[in-house]
Amino acid sequence: MRKNFLSISDLTREEILALFERADYLKGLLEKGEIYHPLQRKTLGMIFRKSSTRTRVSFEVGMYQLGGHAIFLPSQEMQLQRGESIEDTGRVLSRYVDGILIRTFDQNEVVRLSEAATIPVINGLTDLLHPCQALSDYYTLWGRGKKLEGLKLTYLGDGNNVCNSLILGAAKLGVRMTVANPPGYGPDKEIIKKVKASGQITLFKDPLEAAKEADVLYTDVWTSMGKENEQESRRKVFGPYQLNSTLLGQARKDVLVMHCLPAHRGEEITSEVMDGESSIVFEQAENRLHFQKALLAKLMS
Ligand code: CP
Ligand code: NVA
Repeated sequence: MRKNFLSISDLTREEILALFERADYLKGLLEKGEIYHPLQRKTLGMIFRKSSTRTRVSFEVGMYQLGGHAIFLPSQEMQLQRGESIEDTGRVLSRYVDGILIRTFDQNEVVRLSEAATIPVINGLTDLLHPCQALSDYYTLWGRGKKLEGLKLTYLGDGNNVCNSLILGAAKLGVRMTVANPPGYGPDKEIIKKVKASGQITLFKDPLEAAKEADVLYTDVWTSMGKENEQESRRKVFGPYQLNSTLLGQARKDVLVMHCLPAHRGEEITSEVMDGESSIVFEQAENRLHFQKALLAKLMS
């Protein structure tokens, strides 16, 4: 059966853990220089309505390393820009390529694309979710030997796409997550309702309170792509949520600092913390490649 990856909700806990094992195996092969081409003659079309460094490059390199090919499709150079519908785009691409990655604004556009396409569709970030990021990040923690069940992860700042996906992942994997946001900038209400029963997620206003004894501190930009006109008003309320050495002092001694990147140094995170010894932000970025290769192999081979 064709499988999409539009949200972490599309996978079971067992499927996620199997992907982590698979990612580790693929990482090992790469380190040993062994060639493994399960996606020979397969092509991934990559539609981008927003900027990207990590997602674009890691998926493109990932396809190459798996023996396949990727085509970068910036939406402003497609007929999408001139009014062709996402459904017709999906129908046409399904006749050429074997999978579609899409980065866009509205989650509903990804759903519509997946309904019209006959090949797997992967969500490469929407305003609501960033599932590839969140699962790669849990893979990073798992790969460092952290027991995810009961691990305390504190997310500070904007309740955005990355935060929402980390929440869905925490509920699946048994991670205890505390989230601290300024009033009015919390995570998606539907998602909170959905995970409430899991008892894994606690919302705070006070960042210091939320970060007490945390195993992991995570933050992301205060102003996500598409919200640029709110930048000034956001800067005014997000200050106390900055991931700095005071915040770090609240967490466990062996705390790990995470950020999906790109970072705005001096805003949501200080350079001191981002370049400090607790930080694993570049390891996270690397693991996008290994985790997404596992995902591509699962969905497309
Ligand atoms: N973290 C992430 O998705 O980065 P890009 O926006 O560079 O793809
Ligand atoms: N929340 C950020 C993540 C970027 C990878 C954004 O949507 O811009």
